[in-house]
Amino acid sequence: MKTPNLVDARKRNCDRVNIIRNFKIDSDLKRIGKNKKYVVKTYGCQMNERDSENICAILENMGFKRCNDIEESDLVILNTCAIRENAHNKVFGMLGRLKHIKESKDLLIGLCGCMAQEEVVVSEIMSRHKYVDFVFGTHNIHELPNVLNRAIVNQKQEVEVWSKEGDIVEDIPIKRESKFKAWVNIMYGCDKFCTYCIVPYTRGKERSRKSEDIIKEVKKLKELGYKEVTLLGQNVNAYGRDREEEISFAELLTKVAEIGIDRVRFVTSHPWNFTDEMIDVIAKYDNIMPYIHLPLQSGSDRILKLMGRRYTQEEYLNLFDKMKERIPGVAITTDIIVGFPNETDEDFEETLKVVEHCKYDGAFTFIYSPREGTPAAKMEDNIDLKTKEDRLHKLNEIVNKYSNMNNQKYLDKTVPVLITGVSEKDNDKLCGYTDTFKLVNVEGGKRLIGEIVDVKITDAKSFSLDGEVK
Ligand code: 5AD
Ligand code: SF4
Repeated sequence: MKTPNLVDARKRNCDRVNIIRNFKIDSDLKRIGKNKKYVVKTYGCQMNERDSENICAILENMGFKRCNDIEESDLVILNTCAIRENAHNKVFGMLGRLKHIKESKDLLIGLCGCMAQEEVVVSEIMSRHKYVDFVFGTHNIHELPNVLNRAIVNQKQEVEVWSKEGDIVEDIPIKRESKFKAWVNIMYGCDKFCTYCIVPYTRGKERSRKSEDIIKEVKKLKELGYKEVTLLGQNVNAYGRDREEEISFAELLTKVAEIGIDRVRFVTSHPWNFTDEMIDVIAKYDNIMPYIHLPLQSGSDRILKLMGRRYTQEEYLNLFDKMKERIPGVAITTDIIVGFPNETDEDFEETLKVVEHCKYDGAFTFIYSPREGTPAAKMEDNIDLKTKEDRLHKLNEIVNKYSNMNNQKYLDKTVPVLITGVSEKDNDKLCGYTDTFKLVNVEGGKRLIGEIVDVKITDAKSFSLDGEVK
C-alpha cells in the first residue's frame, strides 16, 4: 500500500532521471484476464489518451479482451483527470454507476490517472468508496499487472500511488487507437508550477525522452504507414532542457520532420519557452502543420504575474505576431481562464483586448477552479460565481465570432484533409482535419478513412467546416 503525498510530489531535485527498459509481465499474471473483458474509460487530455494506450496493451498482455459495454465487462479502469472540479465530478458520478452495477455482478473497478495522484481523492476512495478494487498513479502504470493481481488475491482494496519526480519507462507495450495517426510522448511532467495548476503535482518533473528513442518510434510509425504524429508533452518546447547532452525542441522537430511522415503536430507549447528557431523550423517544413496551441490564460499583466506565467501581455503579443508573420497561414488557438482570484473588470478587459488582437482560430475557455494543494487555492477570492459566469459568456461570444470569421476564409477553397473517421454528428458522413486542425465533415465512403484527400469547403460554421471530396 502506498498513498500519494503532495509534499513529495512538489519536490524537484537535480538527480538524473532513470530510464527503465525492463518491462515484463510475470508468466503467471499473463493468464489473469483469460475469458474476461475490460473497459478503459479515459478522461482529460491527450496525455491520458496516450497512457490508456499503454494500459489497454498491458491488460491484453494479461489475457483480457476489450469491450465497449460496461455491463458486459469484468474489469473497468477509469483513467482520470484532475484539472478542474467538473472533471472530478464526472469521475465520482461514474463511480456511483459502477457501484450500482457491481451490486448485481462480479466487477473489478480500478482508478488511475491524475486524480489518483491527489491525497484528497485517494483518502475519499479509501474511506467512502471501498468497492473500488485498486488505485494506481501516473508514475506506476507499469506496475498495473502486480497491483491488479494483489487486488484479486488479497480481496481488499489495493492502493499503489507513487508520488515522485518520475522516471521514464520506455518499453511498456502499446495498443494504438488509430492505424494512421499516433501520439508520441517526447517529455513528461511540468516544472512551471503555474499557481492554479495541479499538473506539476500529478505528473512529476519535466523529463525528456532521449531523442534517439523518439526518432526510432517515429521511423517505425512511418514504416507502418502512419500519416500523422503528434509530439506530446505538457510543455513540449521545454524539450531537452533537463538533459545536458540533449538537442533542443527545434532540433527535434527538424529531425522528426525529416523522417518524412506526412503530418507532424505538437502540443502543448508554453509561450515562455517558444524560441525564434522553433518558429523558423515550423515555417520551413511543409510537413510540420501550421497550427500552434498557445495558451494565454489571462491578458492582464497583474493576473499573469499572480498565475506565475512568466510573460507579460506585450511579450505574448510579440510572440503571437511573430508567428503570424513568419508562418504562412498559421492557425493559433489558446486556453483562457476567467475568474482567477480577485480578477477585476479591468483585468478581464485586458484579456478581451488580447482576444480582439489575436482573433484566435479557437479557444478553450474555463472558469478558474481551485485545486487543493496549489498556491492559488489559498488565495482569498472576492469575485462571485455569477460575475465569473458572465465573463465566460462574454468571452465565448467574442471567441466564437472570431473562430467563425477565420473559418469563413475557407469557403470555396480546396484543402487537404486527413480523414479520421465517421462524423459524430452524422453517421453517414466522415470527418477529418485540415493542416490547420479545423474539423471538416465530408460525404464519402469509409475507404477514405486514413487518407489525406483534397476537400472543397462548402460551408463554414464556428466549430466546423463542411466539404466535398474533390
Ligand atoms: N482552473 C481552471 N482552468 C485550469 N486549467 C488548468 N488549471 C486550471 C484550473 N485550476 C486550464 C488551463 C490549461 C488547460 C489545460 O486547463 O487553461 O491550459
Ligand atoms: Fe499547468 Fe502551467 Fe504546467 Fe501548463 S505550464 S501544465 S498550466 S503548470
